[in-house]
Amino acid sequence: MISIIVGTRPEIIKMSPIIRECQRRDIDFSLLHTGQHYSYEMDRIFFEELNLPVPDHHLDVGSGSHAGQTGAIMSGIGRVYEDERPDMVLVQGDTNTVLAGSLVAAKMKVPLGHVEAGLRSYDRTMPEEVNRVVADHVGDWLFAPTEKARENLLKEGIDDSKILVTGNTIVDAVYQNLEMAKENGDALKIFEVRQKDYFLVTAHRQENVDKPDKLEHIVSALTEIHDRYNLPVIFPVHPRTRKMIDQFQIPVNGINLTEPIGFFSFLQLESEARLVLTDSGGVQEECCILGVPCVTLRENTERPETVDVGANCIVGTEPGRILGGVQDMIGRSGGWSNPYGDGTAGVEIVGCCMNQAI
Ligand code: UD1
Ligand code: UDP
Repeated sequence: MISIIVGTRPEIIKMSPIIRECQRRDIDFSLLHTGQHYSYEMDRIFFEELNLPVPDHHLDVGSGSHAGQTGAIMSGIGRVYEDERPDMVLVQGDTNTVLAGSLVAAKMKVPLGHVEAGLRSYDRTMPEEVNRVVADHVGDWLFAPTEKARENLLKEGIDDSKILVTGNTIVDAVYQNLEMAKENGDALKIFEVRQKDYFLVTAHRQENVDKPDKLEHIVSALTEIHDRYNLPVIFPVHPRTRKMIDQFQIPVNGINLTEPIGFFSFLQLESEARLVLTDSGGVQEECCILGVPCVTLRENTERPETVDVGANCIVGTEPGRILGGVQDMIGRSGGWSNPYGDGTAGVEIVGCCMNQAI
């Protein structure tokens, strides 16, 4: 039996192709939700849209400090596994849910598969970098999305026999849902925008939004972009960011700040945007897959493939650099190749689990 762990928005989306494949092959699996994300629009909406099963276990850990949240998830998963004793565990990405799930699996000697292994920003000040390094080093199967991710793992002395390059399951998720999103959705109408005639923004990285000066720089750059290009700027705002905008009393002008939106609406808006500004990992990948130019509001990326193919540029949070990045990227045609695979990562990962683990 495979225990599939999820906790946050991107994990639910990126695990969905693996869950679907387990269902298709009638494989015995159990879904464990840590509850790291819990607001309807960060959690349940994705289960509904992606038609995912109700989790077999829900830990309801909620928000907290890194140590408190990681510890609570570890205790919760430990309790579940005392009874459930899975044959293997799958985690995805680089969140505290992943860190906790990986450590529990390793301590309880349950084989661990890490989906999206080998990504490196080489910036240990990011909590996500610590989480992904730990998961990779205690993991038994490392499902790397690209050759570059595989090379990162090899450089750290990880044995090649543990690594399988599969592509990223986000390609599967995009291919499986984009048409339906476009056919059934009316996000452009709701936001009163026209194809290729607006900017889309997301930002939630702790190192960006928890710092008043950085968050203020980002918001003022967005206002300037709106003024300069005379185009709508849509910003579905992550709850962490909303909290910080309120706390720091940052004035928001010329930006359509909305609640986070579902995956279908987001995919629709993303695929038709003139350009996307983001500090999200998954959004950098999706823009690259969808052929939409991306400007990344960070000093580094663990997704360098997006920059290498010409889909993305890394500009940090200084307004001048953000505006320069937009100017550079806005004319790009989107004809680059997709480095993240052909949309069969979920099938490959589940196939590997069945051949090797059970
Ligand atoms: C987490 C991950 C990050 C990932 C992101 C995806 C870690 C260390 N961080 O960051 O890698 O990119 O999820 O979105 O695991 N909140 C709500 N409702 C929710 C969830 C959060 O209101 O459903 C608010 C709370 O005020 C909370 C804050 O957002 O304190 C931050 O949530 P948390 O899960 O700690 O980190 P994220 O910023 O979401
Ligand atoms: N996303 C969404 N609604 C939004 C913003 C993002 O459905 O309002 C999706 C997006 O399509 C992508 C994922 O959320 O698949 C990215 O999650 P996030 O940026 O929270 O986390 P990260 O990828 O940075 O870990």
